[in-house]
Amino acid sequence: MSDDNIFDVQNVTLRFGGVVSLNDVSLHQRRGEILAVIGPNGAGKTSLFNSLTGVYKPQEGTITFTGEPGNPVSVIGRKPHRLNGAGIARTFQASRMFSALTTFENVKIGAESHRGLGAVGAMLGGPATRRGEKESDRRTIELLDFVGLRDEANTLSASLSYGARRRLEIARGLATNPKVLLLDEPAAGTNPAEKLDLTELIRKVRDEMGVSILLIEHDMKLVMSLAERLYVLNFGSVIAEGTPDEIRANEAVVEAYLGSSDTGTSQATTSPDGVEVTDAQG
Ligand SMILES: Nc1ncnc2c1ncn2[C@@H]1O[C@H](COP(=O)(O)OP(=O)(O)OP(=O)(O)O)[C@@H](O)[C@H]1O
Ligand SMILES: [Mg+2]
Repeated sequence: MSDDNIFDVQNVTLRFGGVVSLNDVSLHQRRGEILAVIGPNGAGKTSLFNSLTGVYKPQEGTITFTGEPGNPVSVIGRKPHRLNGAGIARTFQASRMFSALTTFENVKIGAESHRGLGAVGAMLGGPATRRGEKESDRRTIELLDFVGLRDEANTLSASLSYGARRRLEIARGLATNPKVLLLDEPAAGTNPAEKLDLTELIRKVRDEMGVSILLIEHDMKLVMSLAERLYVLNFGSVIAEGTPDEIRANEAVVEAYLGSSDTGTSQATTSPDGVEVTDAQG
């Protein structure tokens, strides 16, 4: 285990009854790295994210999160909101916005929850609360600027384009000031131009905010252009690790996942509309 790793996963096994979702998985993410996890449907990618964020509790293994060097946190057994407070944020495979709220309100909720200011606190608010509220407003505007949604601040999020929704989700994740951002199929449901915008935005989050990125993505063109390193999961097991070039050249990966088709634009296993699909495991 190294202090330079933001995540260290050692021999993690996660079972649901007879189903083994993660089978003796070991992997690590370096601090500041853009790392991707790829693999066919049902390979265990979202289960891994759920294990890293405290939603699922693997039966075996260890997961260490080191948001601040010298301050390792053991993940398994900790609650999702505690881990979020420690610096782990995520977006979901299926969109989880409050559709009846505006873009601004959706991001502000994230900023407020980070400051531990509930709705009641805000209503009873004394001067300190009002100061805090101003701070949340300022941070929200800053984040909307960052993701390019300032002009959509007062738009109901339900009427945003898919690409804009995906950017809104990223802003919401960033509102809690994370050290690592986990993105579960951030480009699902978007068109090619939106995919390019998202690629640039995700790179900017790492470059300008210093947030490490962990990415699940079926779009090979996007993931190969963005990720510095990848792990490939198949039936719950890690079958390969390497740079984009190494993964493209790995025969086991080609057989299990990339297939004989052109990997440049492969989307064969993506649900036709990842955004609207209801995902029980989310
Ligand atoms: N809460 C759960 N209860 C039972 N089985 C589950 C649960 N969550 C995940 N699984 C099972 O674990 C396996 C891995 O599922 P997971 O959602 O992690 O795959 P995935 O790689 O994210 O797939 P996709 O690309 O389709 O999103 C599947 O067999 C799934 O049915
Ligand atoms: Mg999934």
